[in-house]
Amino acid sequence: MTHHQKGRLVVVSNRVGPLTDEGKAGGLAVGLADALKRRGGLWFGWSGETSEEGTFSEEKTEVFGGTAMTTIDMTEEELEGFYHGYANRSLWPLLHYRLDLVQFDRQSDRVYRSVNQRFAARLAPLVTDDDLVWVHDYHFFYLGSDLRRCGYKGRLGFFLHIPFASPEIFMALPGAHDLVHSMLAYDLIGFQTRQDRRNFVNFCIHELGGHKLPGDRIEVGGRIVQASVFPIGIDAEGFARFAVSPEAGEHEEMLRDLARGRLQIVGVDRLDYSKGLVERLLGFERLLEDFPDNRGGVNFLQIAPLSRSELDAYIDLRAELEGLAGRLNGRFATLDWTPIQIMTTGFTRRALAGIYRAARVCMVTPLRDGMNLVAKEFVAAQDPTDPGVLILSRFAGARAELMDALIVNPYATDEVARALQRALTMPLAERQERHQAMREKVFHGTAAHWCESFLTALESAEPEARLPADA
Ligand code: F6P
Repeated sequence: MTHHQKGRLVVVSNRVGPLTDEGKAGGLAVGLADALKRRGGLWFGWSGETSEEGTFSEEKTEVFGGTAMTTIDMTEEELEGFYHGYANRSLWPLLHYRLDLVQFDRQSDRVYRSVNQRFAARLAPLVTDDDLVWVHDYHFFYLGSDLRRCGYKGRLGFFLHIPFASPEIFMALPGAHDLVHSMLAYDLIGFQTRQDRRNFVNFCIHELGGHKLPGDRIEVGGRIVQASVFPIGIDAEGFARFAVSPEAGEHEEMLRDLARGRLQIVGVDRLDYSKGLVERLLGFERLLEDFPDNRGGVNFLQIAPLSRSELDAYIDLRAELEGLAGRLNGRFATLDWTPIQIMTTGFTRRALAGIYRAARVCMVTPLRDGMNLVAKEFVAAQDPTDPGVLILSRFAGARAELMDALIVNPYATDEVARALQRALTMPLAERQERHQAMREKVFHGTAAHWCESFLTALESAEPEARLPADA
């Protein structure tokens, strides 16, 4: 694709890389690596390491093809207050509608803001006003306004990978007004779904006295910002190729051998309370209770790599899940059948593609999720002549596009069990039809498409737009 490019693409996100396909990368990295590989530019963020204050003046830069990845360290105190504290004890549960898990603490609020400032100050000398600066996710809400304060006048975009909660929930955040106000420094703000965008716009209107303007623009206190929807996608062709690679083939075969003719159900999620893992296991238990023909005939494999495992909420969830899986296995297992297997081991993306291909059913049942790219990867990995069935939560962003999945309310155990039964018994023709419809969506709304749509909109945005003084 030819693209009119004035300046470089400068991406800012908490985690930087990998740029290769092999890694155990999360959704954000997958989408961005693809974009940067095609356009080149700078990827700036945290090194993943801590060091003592005063010694972290050095940036680390690695160059891959046309992309430089530049990272800086944090201090232990910053890691605690910024990442463990404000980002993952306050914002993450808040934006996933979990007020019961939210912890607010003024120290971590302070550290979060100062890390945003420090990253902006370190980025400022690396950019010119001709660049396109694209900031990602809930770690860096304030970074745009900080970068403006450092003098940056070029185009400045922000994309939120996770949900934006309804104003009713969002208002529970001390300093909610400050945070959203600072977001107005961005020229373009992207959301995963219409619902997320609506929540943000409603906050601006009802809490900050803003107004809607034609197009996707809103005006707040004289400042004009565009807020639009850009659902993130995957490199569908690349992932479909992974699914027929030798490494995928090995994993597919291994899983089929282990299943010995039983139908395989899989789930793949970071071990996170937003993913609905406990509810998913209860749904599987209900399947075995209410549709007992499945006993001895289905295997459930949950791959759940550990994430943020220093935090209490994640430690508690892990213990709960392991207890539940143990109880369920104890209750239903026979000498030659163990119904549930949970693994915290991560797999390469090629191996995962093979695992998806061996599965008759994939459960993507988060209680809240920005998009969920597992759903899209599962679809891309299937053999179209004998595809598996996707069970998808109504609360995943992916639901807006993947309406041909079996859509469930993950809290409704009976509904989940019925969907499982339907998926396990679905005739081939219906599986093919549903898969074909979803495949078109996944191959159309790719990571490349997401990136180009966002950047095209950002290129045509007017930096720091304001209403004329007499308007
Ligand atoms: O997409 C949401 C996200 O929080 C990314 O920002 C993040 O890199 C990924 O999930 C994994 O979480 P973490 O970086 O905290 O391990």
